[in-house]
Amino acid sequence: MRKAFRAAVLHCLADPGESSASSALEYFEDGLLIVENGLVVEAGAATALLPQLADDVSIAEFPGKIIVPGFIDCHVHYPQLDIIASYGEQLLDWLKRYAYPAEARFADEGHANEVADAFLNELLRNGTTTALVFATVHTHSADAIFTAAELRGMRLIAGKVLMDSNCPDELQDTPESSYADSKALIKRWHGKDRLGYAITPRFALTSSAEQLTAAGQLASEYPDVWVHTHLAENKAEVEEVARQFPKSRSYLDVYDHYGLLRERSVFAHCLHMDDTDRSCMAAKGGAAAFCPTSNLFLGSGLFDLRAMRAASVRVGLGTDVGGGTTLSLLRTASEAYKVLHLQDQALPASRALYLATLGAAEALYLDDKVGNFEPGKEADFVVLDPAASSISNRRSRIATSIEESLFAITMLADDRNVAATYVAGKPAAIK
Ligand code: GUN
Ligand code: ZN
Repeated sequence: MRKAFRAAVLHCLADPGESSASSALEYFEDGLLIVENGLVVEAGAATALLPQLADDVSIAEFPGKIIVPGFIDCHVHYPQLDIIASYGEQLLDWLKRYAYPAEARFADEGHANEVADAFLNELLRNGTTTALVFATVHTHSADAIFTAAELRGMRLIAGKVLMDSNCPDELQDTPESSYADSKALIKRWHGKDRLGYAITPRFALTSSAEQLTAAGQLASEYPDVWVHTHLAENKAEVEEVARQFPKSRSYLDVYDHYGLLRERSVFAHCLHMDDTDRSCMAAKGGAAAFCPTSNLFLGSGLFDLRAMRAASVRVGLGTDVGGGTTLSLLRTASEAYKVLHLQDQALPASRALYLATLGAAEALYLDDKVGNFEPGKEADFVVLDPAASSISNRRSRIATSIEESLFAITMLADDRNVAATYVAGKPAAIK
């Protein structure tokens, strides 16, 4: 059944860059998004498209609102939902004090199911329709998030975490069990509906050489699954990696050595790396998840977007909850703006939108499916309300361009500014 949605319609066709190239954006002030069978038929100006629309096509009108593509979170941990905003530590102590105890509770399957549902409801409330997600070491924690995503018709990539050293005993698997369990999960979930599997070694410090070898073996057997891990987030972490892997040129080189750097490899953070790493990552098709709220909250460092894009690395935004402090990609984009501002780099609102939509889709190799409103893409979208809070209402009223209005929404946003979220053309099921 064909349906139409009328509001301002805004999406990216390419990376607008630091100076906000207008050709990278398509904007229809009075726009129409036409959808059929969960896919985009067309986006355009209402005046052009309305006359061609058959009489029986229903039109949902959202006056004063802006329709943008569904947001894509390139890095997030669903088991850390309940430890968001935990005080006072940098990465390695934060893991010990907060993340590992929270993840140990996922030995209980009922707990995993409950958190998976709550987590996806929160994503949808914030306008996030696709995500790349860490589960825990427990196989059933991956089953829980896939089951919850399937129920909601969401596009989601996730994986069971691989970790067999330098962490609490109750959270350890083995090279053999992690290989077998990941393989079983790939067979169960990868390519089912809108779901995809990510081989998910936590980071270099919690996997033995044998486990990294097993992960690389799996990656070579399944070239179209994702690889998802952390890279060069924290200085103490980077120093420890250099101690544990003295033969590697860099932290990235550790993953590369084990066959874990390739297309569909996504590395969260990428803060403490050099241009050789960046060129290598770009050449091999790896992508970076830029997680500004986490990088500030854990005191990790500042992401160098200009250097990453100059090297042609694919980059998308990630919330990294629970290290990150929000599931909202709008709020994440506002912190990205500040992180870049501190480094004399610009982040126009159009580029922030790109990093949360099309850029993220490119980072995940999903840009043939989601990320903008090109005909044939999946109709995941968000209806933004610039007037949801009294302050964003006052600010948007005096905005004279869509760039200015979008910037103000991004800086001031919270989940109130997300008036509705649609998944494959239907209102998101928050259950
Ligand atoms: N590095 C290894 N594990 C984690 C994690 O859970 N969160 C973050 N932010 N970094 C990590
Ligand atoms: Zn993370």
